[in-house]
Amino acid sequence: MWTLGRQVLILCSLGLLARASLFDDILSALQNATDCASCQSVLLPPLQTLANLGDDAWVGNMTAVCQTLQLADDDVCAGTFNRSGRIISHDLRQISLNGTTAVKLCDAVFGLCQPPLVTPFNVTFPKPAPTSATKFISSGRQPFQVVHISDVHIDRSYTVGADANCTKNICCRNFADETGPVSEPAQPFGNSHCDSPGILAQSLIEAMNEIGNDALFSIFTGDVVEGATWLVTEREVTNDLADWNEQMAASLNLTIFPSIGNHDSVPVNSFPRNTSSSGVHATDDLFVFDTQSAGWEKWINATAADQVDHNSGSYAIVVPGTSLKIISMNTQYWYKQNYWLYDSDEQISDTNGLFEFMVEQLQQAEDAGQRAWIIGHIPSGKADLQHDFSNYYNQIVQRYKNTIAAQFAGHSHKDQFEIAYSDFDNQTAETADSIIFIGPALTPTSGNPAFKFYDVDPDTFEVMDAKVFMANISDPTFQTAGPTWELYYSARESYGDLVSAFTNTTLAPTDSLNASFWHTLTEVFESNDTAFQLWNTRISRGGAVTPCTGDCVSTTICDMRSARSENNCDVSTPGLDLRRDVRSVGRRSESFECEGGSIGDLLGGFIDDVNSDESVVRTRALQKLNLERDIA
Ligand SMILES: *[C@@H]1O[C@H](CO)[C@@H](O)[C@H](O)[C@H]1NC(C)=O
Ligand SMILES: *[C@@H]1O[C@H](CO)[C@@H](O)[C@H](O)[C@H]1NC(C)=O
Ligand SMILES: *[C@@H]1O[C@H](CO)[C@@H](O)[C@H](O)[C@H]1NC(C)=O
Ligand SMILES: *[C@@H]1O[C@H](CO)[C@@H](O)[C@H](O)[C@H]1NC(C)=O
Ligand SMILES: *[C@@H]1O[C@H](CO)[C@@H](O)[C@H](O)[C@H]1NC(C)=O
Ligand SMILES: *[C@@H]1O[C@H](CO)[C@@H](O)[C@H](O)[C@H]1NC(C)=O
Ligand SMILES: *[C@@H]1O[C@H](CO)[C@@H](O)[C@H](O)[C@H]1NC(C)=O
Ligand SMILES: *[C@@H]1O[C@H](CO)[C@@H](O)[C@H](O)[C@H]1NC(C)=O
Ligand SMILES: *[C@@H]1O[C@H](CO)[C@@H](O)[C@H](O)[C@H]1NC(C)=O
Ligand SMILES: *[C@@H]1O[C@H](CO)[C@@H](O)[C@H](O)[C@H]1NC(C)=O
Ligand SMILES: *[C@@H]1O[C@H](CO)[C@@H](O)[C@H](O)[C@H]1NC(C)=O
Ligand SMILES: *[C@@H]1O[C@H](CO)[C@@H](O)[C@H](O)[C@H]1NC(C)=O
Repeated sequence: MWTLGRQVLILCSLGLLARASLFDDILSALQNATDCASCQSVLLPPLQTLANLGDDAWVGNMTAVCQTLQLADDDVCAGTFNRSGRIISHDLRQISLNGTTAVKLCDAVFGLCQPPLVTPFNVTFPKPAPTSATKFISSGRQPFQVVHISDVHIDRSYTVGADANCTKNICCRNFADETGPVSEPAQPFGNSHCDSPGILAQSLIEAMNEIGNDALFSIFTGDVVEGATWLVTEREVTNDLADWNEQMAASLNLTIFPSIGNHDSVPVNSFPRNTSSSGVHATDDLFVFDTQSAGWEKWINATAADQVDHNSGSYAIVVPGTSLKIISMNTQYWYKQNYWLYDSDEQISDTNGLFEFMVEQLQQAEDAGQRAWIIGHIPSGKADLQHDFSNYYNQIVQRYKNTIAAQFAGHSHKDQFEIAYSDFDNQTAETADSIIFIGPALTPTSGNPAFKFYDVDPDTFEVMDAKVFMANISDPTFQTAGPTWELYYSARESYGDLVSAFTNTTLAPTDSLNASFWHTLTEVFESNDTAFQLWNTRISRGGAVTPCTGDCVSTTICDMRSARSENNCDVSTPGLDLRRDVRSVGRRSESFECEGGSIGDLLGGFIDDVNSDESVVRTRALQKLNLERDIA
């Protein structure tokens, strides 16, 4: 009895001690980890030890860490870690802390590592590129029109009169912990601190019907669900996806070809690989694919709907009556913040066979003499697309560059473009060979609500003009009469003469706005700051403009020229600056708008703060840390 009692006593004390010191270790490790090496050697070990105690222990303790450090409101900490935290905990049990996957995890979650060098991998192609490629030549026929919408982020719990001034990622909702007086009552049609109310989305549909009255079809590059990521449930996301599908089916007069966005799942950003062993979601059963397969069938036909269900959310369809094939890719399998990508030390180069699907579809298009558009949520050059996947994706783009007429994406909420080159080390108008048009968002959180409208050549399916339409949220009638959608600018009108003057050539009516055109425009931006500043204002449609001068200009131009993310200038020089630097603080704020408070934003933001001399939050966090130590 005595022995047993003593053993129990010792075990209990050890247990208590272990728990207390593990929590303390994590707090102190978060403070001590300042670079990639210390992320792996100091920070990951206690996190892995905690993961080995189980998901509930990991979620509970990390929620407490988040709340202790006041990284966000208590409910945001709890909801965020109780969702995505379970995937990270699962990851930590599967991987070696000194491997490449651990480096990628330290990059994605803590921003402490730079992306590792691309793991060499050659995508295999069924046939070599044809020696004499089909030339697609414009005969000068009348272009047809296409409407491009993106990032609608509809908040079905948007509440008129709720506070638009809050401490969370999105406001205009009756949050349980907001009990004080309302300082800025939400108005009917939206607010720049809130995601889109349903009637703003309805106004968009009506604008698409009117402005796109004669359009052949429309495309939607993803993100239906709102940004209260710490609260989302499978039921809410299913309803949000179905509601938007039904809203469009009921009132949109155009066919729409949609894509899945990173917000369109639970937890946010999470799309498990078919190699994931945890059994949380088998890929074929992911509810998102069932919902979208059923909801999209009326536009994309039964064959493509079946692909959505069985090709992890991707599909291809030839637009009826044309020789244009649309290939819609679920880009989330290449996304840094999809934490399922870190649950194995084994390099999986083609998640769920998506590249294989893309190659197969492009090969069929090439064989059939068709042209193709690739549409998807995340543009391939963004810093938040894993370098490996962006590299492999670009191998496919280069192989099929004669077939791909253009690419379309969203995610950044901005009106932007990215250029791909046959030689990324020698970026010229001659080597520029593929262009990604990035559509602006409906949600007013990053500028005025907007959409893009293209004139498309019916022979080449290349874009002849890209026009942006927007509704000015500051217009006094916006909240009363509703949004007024107006032409903001036409790229051909606005930039055509600048490009022509720069090259001493004339843009012929049959010349498209192809990759070479946009490359030359980036050269104009280098020499004409007025033109660059105009573009910088336009990316957010004149609202929420971020000033950009000096290094920001060269970085931004570099980013326009990097449809392959390893070429992106958001990457710091290895060895010199192993943390997110000032320039990438801009990147963080950009990604924050897209990700909406993922764990990476909470913890990466904390690491930024404790390592930055000027941060007020740092002082607060350090005080908190010291306070904890004193108590412990
Ligand atoms: C953090 O650094 C301090 C001071 O060097 C050290 O005492 C502490 O043990 C470190 N914590 C961890 C978890 O490594
Ligand atoms: C996590 O969420 C589940 C389901 O809502 C809930 O039962 C559980 O208490 C939560 N756990 C924590 C640690 O918040
Ligand atoms: C922290 O983890 C321990 C297991 O080691 C667990 O007993 C404890 O409840 C966790 N703390 C919280 C706040 O969940
Ligand atoms: C990495 O860690 C594992 C144990 O997790 C160890 O077996 C292996 O030797 C380590 N490799 C290197 C290169 O340090
Ligand atoms: C990829 O192909 C190139 C050229 O054929 C070859 O030199 C290289 O070894 C290949 N790389 C891999 C990883 O197979
Ligand atoms: C927003 O709320 C904060 C804190 O409640 C208050 O200090 C601030 O004045 C409010 N801002 C506006 C524009 O109402
Ligand atoms: C959209 O279609 C409906 C039903 O066919 C029609 O009544 C309406 O006028 C159309 N709207 C526009 C702007 O063309
Ligand atoms: C759907 O469209 C494709 C062309 O993209 C065609 O091959 C297929 O037969 C169509 N499926 C159905 C069920 O109509
Ligand atoms: C995952 O999907 C790919 C492509 O369809 C397939 O080749 C592979 O066998 C699948 N792996 C598992 C474990 O199901
Ligand atoms: C770069 O590309 C141009 C074509 O635009 C070509 O003339 C030149 O030789 C290339 N330079 C290098 C170093 O490959
Ligand atoms: C365009 O013409 C001007 C004046 O004739 C000349 O100075 C300039 O070098 C030319 N630019 C190009 C790119 O040919
Ligand atoms: C620079 O760009 C502005 C704005 O597009 C334009 O008005 C101006 O003429 C350009 N200057 C030169 C020298 O091309």
